[in-house]
Amino acid sequence: MSVTILGIESSCDDTSAAIIQDGYLLSNIIANQDVHKAYGGVVPELASRAHQQNIIPVVDQAIKKAGITKEEISAVAFTRGPGLLGSLLVGTSFSKSFALALNIPLVEVNHLQAHILVHFIKQYKADNRLPEFPFLCLLVSGGHTQIVLIKDFLDMEIIGQTIDDAGGEAFDKCAKVIGLPYPGGPLIDKNAQQGNKNAFTFNKPRIKEFDYSFSGLKTSFLYFIRDSIKENPDFIKENMNDLCASIQHTIVEILMDKLIAASKKTGIKNIAIAGGVSANSGLRNAILETAKKYNWNTFIPEFKFTTDNAAMIAITGYYKYLNKDFASQDIAPLARFQY
Ligand code: KG4
Ligand code: ZN
Repeated sequence: MSVTILGIESSCDDTSAAIIQDGYLLSNIIANQDVHKAYGGVVPELASRAHQQNIIPVVDQAIKKAGITKEEISAVAFTRGPGLLGSLLVGTSFSKSFALALNIPLVEVNHLQAHILVHFIKQYKADNRLPEFPFLCLLVSGGHTQIVLIKDFLDMEIIGQTIDDAGGEAFDKCAKVIGLPYPGGPLIDKNAQQGNKNAFTFNKPRIKEFDYSFSGLKTSFLYFIRDSIKENPDFIKENMNDLCASIQHTIVEILMDKLIAASKKTGIKNIAIAGGVSANSGLRNAILETAKKYNWNTFIPEFKFTTDNAAMIAITGYYKYLNKDFASQDIAPLARFQY
């Protein structure tokens, strides 16, 4: 008997549904929410309203694209947290009703664990190289920055994390300072490709062990821009690509320094990256270059698995289903959810 999991993701501003069968991806549908662009960030109330509009058509498409019927679904896995409570409520309520109607188990998933487990999604006609345990994962998104030691599918230990802003937030806030729209991370990446990464230098924080801090960098970038504009009102326009390349280079170096230290301390050379910022070309190149130097075995996700998606929820649900780790109908979402 096949195990077929419907995954539901609604923690922030993407509504997504995916079908994974016996570990293989059959469909992964994502509806983005453009309504937030005008506000320079995600507006929670607008996000939950958009999730309500999107969730049924998105699930319907995921089932159709997978070429299955809903009666073939073994369990529904949903993001319980962390995330925006109103957004999480939509996915949680939908998943509970769906599971109840079909009389199938419900599986709760931690969004951060799911970002890491994207590395175990198998695809037809792909080489499906999966990480071996133990491995380290640098998980960097808009809300989190962590170095995680993964001992088994669901046995993970956070060995370092940010004490203030996340890496993605650093990208987005610096982008805002130079007038780029939200989310600025991908735009910094694009402009950086035409710029000189050594044009400007910014101080890197001194934080203990494998922890991170990005709030000081954001502030010094803001002051640097403010002072430079006083001297030359066209400073940003004239230096856009160099500014993007330099700030990206600094963020990537901060991320890599701790990852290298964690690998040296633990002796682990199986290294993965995950989360929205793992789409960044500077970070991807830095991982590949460092891998050559230190003989790392690296795992870099496909672009479609870097930002929020339900395929990662479904694969995590699949391993929890195999462990018979089911949730009850009275489960509630959690805005903060440590694993
Ligand atoms: O994982 P994700 O989709 O959502 C969260 O769980 O936060 O990550 C979104 C973050 C945003 O901060 C976005 O700017 C950043 O990932 N991001 C990037 C790139 N693509 C997405 N940052 C830098 N370079 C990119 N190419
Ligand atoms: Zn995420």
